[in-house]
Amino acid sequence: RLTGPRPLPVPGSFERITAEDITFTYPGAESPALSGVSVEIKQGEVIAFVGENGSGKTTLAKILSGLYEPDTGTVRWDDTDLSQVSPEELRTRTAVIAQDHTRWPLAARYNITMGTDRGESALHAAATVAGADEVIAELPHGYRTLLDRRFKDGCELSGGQWQRIAVARGFHRDADLLICDEPTAALDARAEHALFERIRTHADGRTVLLITHRLASVRYADRIYVLDHGHITEQGDHDTLMTHNGLYAELYTL
Ligand SMILES: Nc1ncnc2c1ncn2[C@@H]1O[C@H](COP(=O)(O)OP(=O)(O)OP(=O)(O)O)[C@@H](O)[C@H]1O
Ligand SMILES: [Mg+2]
Repeated sequence: RLTGPRPLPVPGSFERITAEDITFTYPGAESPALSGVSVEIKQGEVIAFVGENGSGKTTLAKILSGLYEPDTGTVRWDDTDLSQVSPEELRTRTAVIAQDHTRWPLAARYNITMGTDRGESALHAAATVAGADEVIAELPHGYRTLLDRRFKDGCELSGGQWQRIAVARGFHRDADLLICDEPTAALDARAEHALFERIRTHADGRTVLLITHRLASVRYADRIYVLDHGHITEQGDHDTLMTHNGLYAELYTL
């Protein structure tokens, strides 16, 4: 779905990402996944997308990071229109921790560094923020343990342990925008809360986009966007949205 020549370089970093009046329909779908959506994300903010299944959260995250091109509307990183830049280059600026993260049959270390080894301190910092250091401490060969039981001395991790490895991978990437799309589906509510707290306090200048169904986890986001059937129906911080007494307040109190 990416079209046309892309002559512009990706901005070195950004002060803000702005999406204006985005419409997007999947090929063959009857109704748009997003319509008339506008959002603004400032550098260093923690932003959250919430809303029910199929409301458009993942689609919007993919559009903001340049993976999908909107049918109408524009996404800008500062003054640069993403339709004018190379998606491969843009991908190096964004780290996505997805629910369907990949489980590579490689050593724990390579599952985090993915060929971009930046040394021990970067590795350990990423693992610690994600809580993956605790997982790795229990492995027979630490970071050198093969994460695949089919190998001699290999180990298989649980869903929640893999999630921590995937989060460490996202943090290890030196990306400006960190998108966590329900990274914690395999975690219980308490573990998810702890993880989001770690992400928030260790963001270290990164801009963070959190997508989750557990509203208690996004309470401290700078701004929350509520999506409903492809529209943004509410936005603001937790207190503002609770006062608003709309869908957010309803879902939060459930
Ligand atoms: N690859 C696809 N092809 C066709 N339709 C899709 C595709 N991905 C999503 N959709 C549709 O687009 C709409 C928005 O989906 P999206 O995945 O963005 O929702 P979501 O808010 O992330 O949902 P969830 O909370 O379940 O992850 C839904 O109606 C969905 O069925
Ligand atoms: Mg989704």
